[in-house]
Order: sequence, then structure tokens, then C-alpha cells
Amino acid sequence: MQSKFFYGFGSFISVFLLVVFSGCSPREQNTKPLVKHMIQSQKLRLLMRELDLVVYEPQKSELERDEIRKRYALTLADTLKRLSVEVENMSKSDLGSNLAANDFDAYKKHAKLLNKNANELYELAQNYKFELIDKKMQDVKISCDSCHNHFRQNL
Ligand code: HEC
Repeated sequence: MQSKFFYGFGSFISVFLLVVFSGCSPREQNTKPLVKHMIQSQKLRLLMRELDLVVYEPQKSELERDEIRKRYALTLADTLKRLSVEVENMSKSDLGSNLAANDFDAYKKHAKLLNKNANELYELAQNYKFELIDKKMQDVKISCDSCHNHFRQNL
């Protein structure tokens, strides 16, 4: 009868200790200063906080870097969107007197393609798709060049 009690008490203590020591994660140390660890050392705790800083700070700055990159790409895409709409909406009379009707259609098509790429670039930036942004920038450049090839051949 008595040994049963001790077994029960013993397992209660083991579970209790397990719960207490499983709280020993470095992330919680700053927020839970009252948790008693098996090893208690002011010197070690300072080292642990330094470790925490070294391990977790670069991750934070990595995220911040993504935000900056995103903002940069968004500004670029936004400007491209605005300018490509202006290019597309230029009236035929503002484009000089050399354009035949089907030239004007071709001009519009090139401008639309630039606008499409600008919109896609904007979407990619909004969704942090950085690997695809570089590729989309190549498409933007191709849409600039395709119009130039058609309408700047005399240069
Ligand atoms: C829809 C057609 C079209 C698209 C798209 C287009 N361009 Fe042009 N671009 C022209 C034409 C036409 C000229 C020549 C205008 C002139 O000489 O009066 C020109 C001229 C230029 C010039 C020379 C300006 C100067 O001062 O002589 C630059 C630089 C240029 N484009 C850059 C770009 C870039 C960068 C893009 C893409 C982001 C682009 N263009 C997209 C039609 C286009």
C-alpha cells in the first residue's frame, strides 16, 4: 500500500520536473525570468542572451531586407505601370505624321505588352516573389526593345 503511494508520488514528481525543465528554452528566458533552471548563473545567462541575439537577429534583418526589396520593386513597378499607360494612350497625332493605321495598332500592341509586364511585376513584388522579379524585369526590357525595333529602326 505504502510503496504504491511512493510510486505514485515519484511519477508525480518526475512529471512535475519535466514540466518545469521543459520551460528551459532560450527564447523564453527574457520574458520569464522567474523560471528556476537546474543551472543558475548570471554569467551563463548573459552568454545565452548573446547567443539568442546572434541566432535570431540575422533572421529579423533578413525579413527587414525583404521588406525594403519589396518596397523598391513596388515603386519601380508602380512607375512602370503609370508610364506605360501614358505611352499606350498617346494619340496618333502626338506620335508624328509617319504612322499608317496599322503602325498605330502595332504601337498600341507594344505599349499594351509593356503595361502587362508592369502589372505582373507589381503583383510579383506584392507577393515577395523575388526570384521571379528578375525574370520579369527581362520581359520588361524585351517589351521596350520590341517597340524600339519596330519604330526606331532609323536610329
Ligand atoms: C510602344 C512603343 C515603345 C515602348 C513600349 C517603349 N518605347 Fe522607348 N521609344 C519609343 C519611340 C518611338 C522612341 C523614339 C521617340 C523619338 O525619337 O521621338 C523611343 C525612345 C526611347 C528613348 C530615347 C529617348 C531620347 O531622348 O531620345 C529611350 C531612352 C527609351 N525609349 C527608353 C524606353 C524604355 C526604358 C522602355 C521600356 C521600359 C521603352 N522605351 C518602351 C517607343 C517605345
